[in-house]
Amino acid sequence: MPVSISPMHATPHVERTPGPRLVAVPPTAKPAAAGAASPRAARRSYGDAIAIAASCLLPLAVTAWGWSYYAAPLAGRLRHPLHSLLRPSGPVGLGLGVLGLALFLFMWLYPFRKTVKWLAWTGPLGAWMRVHVVAGLAIPVIVAVHAGWRFEGLIGMGYLSMFVVSLSGIVGRYLYVHIPRSRNGLEMSMEEVGGERRALITDIAAASGLVPAEVERRLAVDPRPYAGLDPARTLWRMLRDDLSRGRMLSELQRELAKPQPGRSPIGRPQLRETMRLARREMALSQQVRMLEATRRVFGFWHVAHRPFAITALIAVLIHVAVAVVVGGIGLPIGR
Ligand code: HEM
Repeated sequence: MPVSISPMHATPHVERTPGPRLVAVPPTAKPAAAGAASPRAARRSYGDAIAIAASCLLPLAVTAWGWSYYAAPLAGRLRHPLHSLLRPSGPVGLGLGVLGLALFLFMWLYPFRKTVKWLAWTGPLGAWMRVHVVAGLAIPVIVAVHAGWRFEGLIGMGYLSMFVVSLSGIVGRYLYVHIPRSRNGLEMSMEEVGGERRALITDIAAASGLVPAEVERRLAVDPRPYAGLDPARTLWRMLRDDLSRGRMLSELQRELAKPQPGRSPIGRPQLRETMRLARREMALSQQVRMLEATRRVFGFWHVAHRPFAITALIAVLIHVAVAVVVGGIGLPIGR
């Protein structure tokens, strides 16, 4: 019996039994398809991955092209034919340095946009976060090429801080996406999460032919509490839960793809849609369960992230001031 995904969640064969936790869909509930797991969100993720690859491509291409220069010992570099071009104060090296500095300073606009509400006209917080991530991952590569892949002295310390900030950003981002958010990047209220989950359960039931209570049972996540776990254990548990969610989803997909007595197998597009909704529902229910623990660890993360970011900022500002004042580096305007 083929089932269709109705926008009103009302296919006649779906038995609307009130489940133990999530019951009828209120008329105001946001359609699940509009949630953060929409195809548009998937396209955004691909777009981000392409942007990260593209922004690292230029410095990596320069590194590959000038490898004989970068691999040479310091004394050998001075006599290398590419020295005038690739040295940190040469056209390519300096160009990448200026680009890295511009992106690094740009990184500080994210906390500014977050706190200063009237800057909302500059775009949703979620979009700012995405640009922050792309720039934050590209900066260490761009700056490393500017520095000729050498990290010594004060600026070496600054680079290390920047690298730590960038690496820790990956952990921060992992925690950030474990807090339920709407498309604009703002945290969802429990009411909004409940509304979206109810809509998801009904949509999954409509698409899969299972009754809502059965959908809930199949998608139930590990009920063990996160309370009392230290930050490292919390992160470890989050990782494990994410992996086991993936396994449960694969199992469900295999089961739904098989013909069942009294139900014809689900077609491919419908199966894909069901799995997308199921993935979102499981993620949301797990995020709600561990919200308190995630917020706690995210709080620690903020405290650890900030001093490294500030150290990197101070080192970068000193480095630029020294390069301009003592090294005589200036913009080649009017020369
Ligand atoms: C040079 C690199 C980077 C710098 C200088 C930087 C700087 C900052 C600063 C100053 C904040 C605000 C901290 C606070 O409010 O306490 C922040 C927040 C954040 N950054 Fe970065 N960052 C960098 C790279 C990254 C990367 C690579 C990622 C992710 C892969 C990332 C993810 C985040 C996240 C998730 C937040 C918290 C957002 C929130 O709570 O709303 N950052 N970053």
